[in-house]
Amino acid sequence: MSTTADLENLPGVGPATAEKLKENGYDSFQSIAVASPAELSNKADVGESSAGDIINAAREAADIGGFETGADVLTRREEIGKLQFIIDELDELLGGGVETQSITEVYGEFGAGKSQVTHQLSVNVQLPQEHGGLEGRAIFIDSEDTFRPERIDEMVRGLPDEVIEATLEAREIEGGADDEDALEALVEDMLDKIHVAKAFNSNHQILLAEKAQEIAAEYEDDEFPVRLLCVDSLTAHFRAEYVGRGELANRQQKLNKHLHDLDRVGNLYNTAVIVTNQVQSNPDAFFGDPTKPIGGNILGHKSTFRLYLKKSKQDKRIVKLVDAPNLPDGEAVMRVQGAGLKPE
Ligand SMILES: Nc1ncnc2c1ncn2[C@@H]1O[C@H](COP(=O)(O)OP(=O)(O)OP(=O)(O)O)[C@@H](O)[C@H]1O
Ligand SMILES: [Mg+2]
Repeated sequence: MSTTADLENLPGVGPATAEKLKENGYDSFQSIAVASPAELSNKADVGESSAGDIINAAREAADIGGFETGADVLTRREEIGKLQFIIDELDELLGGGVETQSITEVYGEFGAGKSQVTHQLSVNVQLPQEHGGLEGRAIFIDSEDTFRPERIDEMVRGLPDEVIEATLEAREIEGGADDEDALEALVEDMLDKIHVAKAFNSNHQILLAEKAQEIAAEYEDDEFPVRLLCVDSLTAHFRAEYVGRGELANRQQKLNKHLHDLDRVGNLYNTAVIVTNQVQSNPDAFFGDPTKPIGGNILGHKSTFRLYLKKSKQDKRIVKLVDAPNLPDGEAVMRVQGAGLKPE
């Protein structure tokens, strides 16, 4: 987070304007960078053209990323981790699991299991590598009040016994998979490694993505670095706030900036990024083909992997891999059960 003094480095921003900006939630270069000139001019009492200058300077200041060599890029790519669902058919479909350094979009209608996926992967990411995990922690940006610690509890207990045993051992928790004290300690330890924040509106959600970068930096050298960043739901606030045709361009611009931030966390900290996106099953004129989620093209470009979840009989869900760059399209089956996401 920038201090007021930092904001004063922006052109035409003196102490009074800096103070006004901060009061209105523009407390970092990033939050100013995503504002519109009209909005900023209004809130900070500056002319619209000065507001434009301030925003441009903030954009430059916010994007400090430099160049890297091809060798650096190669090293980074070699570090890509695969986070497993621990559902063979699905992990194979994904070429080994959900990749770090990429955005994976999970979309489908209500009740399709998108939030179940974010919960299950918040558990799995913490598991030992030989059991499909990445020995990392998770950040969960929750825009729909969807995160449930009780569900994490059920999913941890629902892991296969040998996975529980190995995880207990890795964390030096005494006891086995049938020991209630050990299970309780394990659940608590895993909940401790899921950092949850509720996003109250789209601007707040954008700020939380910046905050996520700070958390990832804080734990970079930790025993459990951040290896998963979930945003559930990515699109709900944006859709509710930017209504109507006239707002479409504005919405896309903000969403794009948000995805860019998420992508950056993924790349800088070797983190898998999962975003969820609700789509209607009955295509109408606005939403179009359900297998082509809105959000829209912009989301398509930024999310490298897209998983379409489709409800089937009872707890069965069809998971469809759509337009992956290096993998054939295909589908797998999973079940949403009390113990978590399970193979057919
Ligand atoms: N503890 C549980 N035991 C069994 N099934 C569960 C449990 N919790 C949730 N489910 C199932 O998961 C499904 C809900 O999935 P989920 O909440 O992930 O949907 P979603 O895709 O996130 O929907 P939305 O778009 O409304 O957020 C329901 O079918 C529900 O039966
Ligand atoms: Mg949900």
